[in-house]
This record gives sequence, C-alpha cells and structure tokens, in this order.
Amino acid sequence: MLLPPFTHALARRPASSLANGLTTQRHLGPPNVALAMQQYDAYLDALRACALDVTILPPDERFPDGHFVEDTAVIFRNIAFICRAGVPSRSGEAESVASHLAHLHQVTIEGEEGTLDGGDVLFCADRVLIRLSARTNREGAEQLRSALRAVQPDLRVELVSFSGILHLKSGLNELAPGVLVLAPALHLHHDLSFAEILTLPPQETYAANLLPINDTLLIAAGFPTISALAEKYYTHIIPLDMSEFEKMDGGLSCLSLRY
Ligand code: GLY
Repeated sequence: MLLPPFTHALARRPASSLANGLTTQRHLGPPNVALAMQQYDAYLDALRACALDVTILPPDERFPDGHFVEDTAVIFRNIAFICRAGVPSRSGEAESVASHLAHLHQVTIEGEEGTLDGGDVLFCADRVLIRLSARTNREGAEQLRSALRAVQPDLRVELVSFSGILHLKSGLNELAPGVLVLAPALHLHHDLSFAEILTLPPQETYAANLLPINDTLLIAAGFPTISALAEKYYTHIIPLDMSEFEKMDGGLSCLSLRY
C-alpha cells in the first residue's frame, strides 16, 4: 500500500456562511445550516471511531467552502504538498492548514500558473491518479507528481482526464485494493483496466465518494448499492447522512485530511 495506516485527521468546522459556498447542485436547494452542523459532528465522531486523533480548526467566515479541507493539501508520508486553489474564493484556505502541518516537510506550488485541488488526487493501492480539471491544471499536477516522486522515485503517478463531475474523488474512489467505485456521471478518458470497476447506478452517483479509513469504510447513508458493496469488503461500515454537504458539492473525503 502506498499510504501507511492513518493515525490523524485534520478538519475545519464549517462557517455559518457555508450556504454561500460554490456548488453545481443548486437544484437540491440551499443547505440547512443547523442540520449541516449536526451532520458534521456525526462525521467527526466517525473519524474518532476510527481511532484517529482529530484536530478541528475553528470556522473561518471568510471561507464558505473552508471545511472542505481535503482540497488544501496532499499528504504523502512525510510531505505535505500545499495546494493552490483553482478558484479565487477558496484562495487563502490553505494557510491555516499549512500552519497545522508544520511538522511535515512542506512543498508549495512554485510560479504563478499551477493550481491543484486535493479532491482531484486519488491514492490507489499501487498508483496515484491526478485529474486535470477546471480546478487542477497540468502545471499543478506536474508539480505534485514531482513532489510525490521526490518521496518515492518509482511511484506511478498518472494524470487523467475525466469530465462530468467536480472533483475526481466526487466520482471515483478505491473501495479496496484493485477495486474502484465509479459514478456513471464521470466520463472516462483514461484506461482504468488496472482495477476492477464497479459502476454505481445513476441515482447513486453521490455515493461514489466513499472514504476508507484503515479497516473501516465511511459511506453516505441512503444509497443501497454502495451499502451492499461495502458489506462485501468491510466488517466496519459507518453510514453518514451527508445531505446538506451534497447540496454544496462536498463529500465524505472532502471534509478532512487523513494522515
Ligand atoms: N463546494 C466545494 C467546491 O466547489 O469547491
């Protein structure tokens, strides 16, 4: 496995401005902020149930998307690659995350051009996929690839093109080594034959954002296909109601950094 077992998680409590965040899901309506906070607390409890040492940064009202901390950094063993957001409204979110990760060797994007959201980076059992997207450009992706290869020179890092969904991990995740779960809304322009691909039904697209944490799997509640698949691979499964974050294009992985 590329990643060692997780022992820590970093999260940021949502700001009360969370409904002002970016979203492509306006048709789902505005989020209920009080319910989002309840769902967030349940999410933190799930991280703790995985025996992670969880640090929670305080909310920052400047950043309505600031709780989606996964986008701000990519952690690989002893390095933290500090991202540059692909949208102006999220620029600045990474600063407080970087401060918290000061114990790791930090790599920041050089030059003016590169952008990268951590949600576009998927660590599989034997390789890393970085998606080129509206948020992650080739310059950002190449700089991350170099940073990862500085840690492990033979690391397989593939730049991939998909369309149809916000971040790579909104639609593609590793359920188990060699087994990927794919949302049909994600249109593939890349050879994934290295893995078995389990494609969810269209109405369960959101459930593709699942989160394995050591021997436990966090899944979005209310999606029967992913629930049945999860039972084939895990004995510890935590379903979480994520409705208010779904309205804001956020999923289980987006809400924390694990390391
Ligand atoms: N709302 C999450 C994002 O658009 O980055």
